[in-house]
Amino acid sequence: MGKLLVLYSSRNGQTTKIIDAMRDEFTGYEVEMADLHTLPKKNLSKYDKVLIGASVRYGHFHDSLYTFVHTHSEQLEVADSAFFCVCLTARKPEKAEPKNNAYIKQFLAKSPWRPRTTGVFAGALKYSEYNWWQTLIIRLIMKITGGSTDSSRDLEFTDWDKVKDFARQFVRQR
Ligand SMILES: Cc1cc2nc3c(=O)[nH]c(=O)nc-3n(C[C@H](O)[C@H](O)[C@H](O)COP(=O)(O)O)c2cc1C
Repeated sequence: MGKLLVLYSSRNGQTTKIIDAMRDEFTGYEVEMADLHTLPKKNLSKYDKVLIGASVRYGHFHDSLYTFVHTHSEQLEVADSAFFCVCLTARKPEKAEPKNNAYIKQFLAKSPWRPRTTGVFAGALKYSEYNWWQTLIIRLIMKITGGSTDSSRDLEFTDWDKVKDFARQFVRQR
C-alpha cells in the first residue's frame, strides 16, 4: 500500500472538509494528515505522494505554508506532489482555473517548490463563526466582487465533483 501525506492550512475547517471528501478517492493509499500550523519539520522521503491544501485569508496564505515549503523544498521537488488553494474568488468559474487564479500565482511567485499539479476550490462563508469585523470585511469583498451580501446564513460554494476529480487524478498520476 502506498503512503500519502496530506498537509493542510485551514482556519474555519473548509480545507479540511475538502480533504475529507478527497479521502474516499484515495483508495490503495495509507493516508496521514498533518496541520501545517503546528508542524515544525517532517521527513517526506517515506511518502509516495504529498498533497498540500491551504486557504486564503485577507489575500494571503498562512505564513506556515511558506515556512514549510522553503524548509522542505528539496524533498518536495522529488515527491509526487500537488497543491490546492481554497478561496472565495474561485466561486466564479474563470477564477477557479489555476492559471487565472491570483492566489496560485502569488504562491508560485513565493514558493521554491513547483507542485506537479495545482487546483483551486471555492470555499465557504461561515458567518455564524465570524466576529463582526470579519463579517463586515467578507460582506465588503462580496459586494466588490458582485456576490450576495446576505450574512444571515452560512454559504458553501465548494464544487464537490471537482474536488473528487482532482483527488482521483492525483492518485492516478505517476
Ligand atoms: C476573515 C476572512 C478573510 C478572507 N479573505 C479572503 C480573501 O482575501 N480572498 C478570498 O478569495 N477568500 C477570502 N476568504 C474566504 C476563505 O478563503 C473561505 O472562507 C475558505 O472557505 C476558508 O477556508 P478554511 O475554512 O479552510 O480556512 C476569507 C475568509 C475569512 C473568514
